[in-house]
Amino acid sequence: MKLYCSDRCRKRANRDKRKQETLSRLQGLLDQVVTGDSRELVKLLPENSVDLIFTDPPYPKEYLPLYGWLAKEAARVLKPGGFLLTYAGNMYLHEVMMSLGQHLTYFWSYIALDSGQGTVVWPRKTVARHKAILAYSKGPGKPRCNTLDVWNGSGKDKHYHSWGQDVTTARYYIDCFSRRGHVVLEPFTGGGTTCVASKLIDRSFIGFEIDERQAEIARERLATMQLPLFDVSVSQLSLEEGSVVREAMVSEEAS
Ligand SMILES: C[S@@+](CC[C@H](N)C(=O)[O-])C[C@H]1O[C@@H](n2cnc3c(N)ncnc32)[C@H](O)[C@@H]1O
Repeated sequence: MKLYCSDRCRKRANRDKRKQETLSRLQGLLDQVVTGDSRELVKLLPENSVDLIFTDPPYPKEYLPLYGWLAKEAARVLKPGGFLLTYAGNMYLHEVMMSLGQHLTYFWSYIALDSGQGTVVWPRKTVARHKAILAYSKGPGKPRCNTLDVWNGSGKDKHYHSWGQDVTTARYYIDCFSRRGHVVLEPFTGGGTTCVASKLIDRSFIGFEIDERQAEIARERLATMQLPLFDVSVSQLSLEEGSVVREAMVSEEAS
């Protein structure tokens, strides 16, 4: 039997042991795209082990129940103050927000602009030129810098998935909502956009993808990606916006 100098020492030792166990369970999954159903795979993740979930579930109506599941699991695996940022189609935004709000705290609705011609949503006779990125937190939380609520990206990138998103949008919001070395979870990896964006800015990622072919495409993309020559996220902003964001990041980093 182990002897401790005081009750406080024993509690600290137990806390350290739990931290160590959490870390080693995560180690095997870090920076991997794992093939399988995220509703099963997420059970491998300990509670309070993930810093940010940035994700993009499928939009059709039959997938709506995934948002309820996502919010419930986010409330379990996110660290206190951590964020879930999820793309959501405007068609079912109301239902999605109802589901997310059951387990998490609403924070903001960010907008990813589509710089192309947009997509006609025939049942609404509307040409969609933006997508919502909904932000919910586990308890009180804040991004690490002032965050633009509209991001002017290309809106999509179909090279790696027919529903693929552009990497600059993911990169910008992951940058604002996490720090270097943090763990980002993407339960619906698709072509790997979230994982690539995380890798570009020194976050660890965990990707789950049910479709083996898609998972393989994402793994190949990650293995062959190149680091950019300049900082896309800040250089895309106007000079004034860029300096506000840069200053906020520097003062945050210093504090
Ligand atoms: C909208 S796509 C993601 C596209 C991705 N953001 C990109 O830029 O390439 C959603 C992905 O979730 C996957 N998916 C759907 N249900 C899933 C589940 N239960 N577990 C894991 N992946 C799932 C689909 O196979 C699809 O590749």
